[in-house]
Amino acid sequence: QEKILASTPPMGWMSWNIMSENPNEKDIKEMADAMVSSGMVKAGYQYIFLDDCWQGGRDNKNNIIADPRKFPSGIKALADYLHSKGMKLGIYSDAAPLTCGQYTASLNFEQQDAKTFASWGVDYLKYDYCNAPEDVETAKKRYGTMAQALRKSGRDIVFGICEWGPREPWNWGAQVGGQSWRTTYDIRDKWMDIEGKGGVGIYNVVDKTAGLASFSGPGRWNDGDMLVAGLHGTKGPSSAFNGNGCTKAEYQSQMSLYSMLNSPLYASCDIRKMDDEAKTIFTNIEIIALNQDALGKQAERKIKTDIWDVFVRPLANGDFAVAVLNKSSSTQNAKINFAELGLADKYEIKDLWQHKIIGKNNKWNGEVTAHETKVFRLKKV
Ligand code: DGJ
Repeated sequence: QEKILASTPPMGWMSWNIMSENPNEKDIKEMADAMVSSGMVKAGYQYIFLDDCWQGGRDNKNNIIADPRKFPSGIKALADYLHSKGMKLGIYSDAAPLTCGQYTASLNFEQQDAKTFASWGVDYLKYDYCNAPEDVETAKKRYGTMAQALRKSGRDIVFGICEWGPREPWNWGAQVGGQSWRTTYDIRDKWMDIEGKGGVGIYNVVDKTAGLASFSGPGRWNDGDMLVAGLHGTKGPSSAFNGNGCTKAEYQSQMSLYSMLNSPLYASCDIRKMDDEAKTIFTNIEIIALNQDALGKQAERKIKTDIWDVFVRPLANGDFAVAVLNKSSSTQNAKINFAELGLADKYEIKDLWQHKIIGKNNKWNGEVTAHETKVFRLKKV
């Protein structure tokens, strides 16, 4: 039997939000060092996902090359550096002649580029869909071609499909050989965009992804795009990133809900300058344990009202996780009977943000502040 790649959701840090046009080996290596020293790697964030704008065209044998000004030592040296720290390297390309940033991409060079990535020691490929045709069949074909090329490259390279939703990649992503697919357009550093025009907010992604639970499982994940904690409205070097920042409760909700929904987890702020708030959010290992749970079962949304979204998921050891999100803009009192969530027993309740057992009961009543998510781990008593 073939082994499952990405049997739990990939975790790491992605260059796009803060580096966009200028990812480079100096900054990326510093980021990797900060990933180690901050405890991120220990908490499970293994990957550096090098996004668009690393490419320097093709050489006279048509091999794709890195921009020598940005990566003077080459990508293999970077991969070696990361591997020496127990980390992994993700790289980026696109299913067309050019990427979103108009850099060299992989259409018609799939085999050759997959071999090149393998020879560099790359562990993951994010494969974008800019400059490619509208129709679903072409998308399936192009992603399938690259997936096959990666499988034949001689290295285990996880394949992240970066099609943002118009062609509903959840319907075909696993079938063509992808381990994840995006569920929405690019996330912004904000809670919600009711217009849907300026890029999506945290809750837009959660709401969309919640409806896609049946497509998710080990080796096939719904990808909610970057975690935005720590950005606080930082202006990136390009138009790629905007948003005025979120509250602590909102950043915490994103981490909580992406963990419930088994989205890949990738930070995007400058880890070298990360504040304690972001660090605490990213390194909550009890929340991460939900995301990385061996059962790989995405939470189901059991309650959706104007005020509340309540999610439930079973865990490998028989426990359940329950997340209670207050969507309103003021503090609200929750009254949750576990029986109405399909949980008929009495449970020991652990609050995973307080890191504390708060009682034994068949219900939970309590306050939830605006856009906050309470997350509980329930153990049958
Ligand atoms: C669009 C993707 O959705 C982003 O995450 C990023 O990879 C950019 N393209 C890069 O051009």
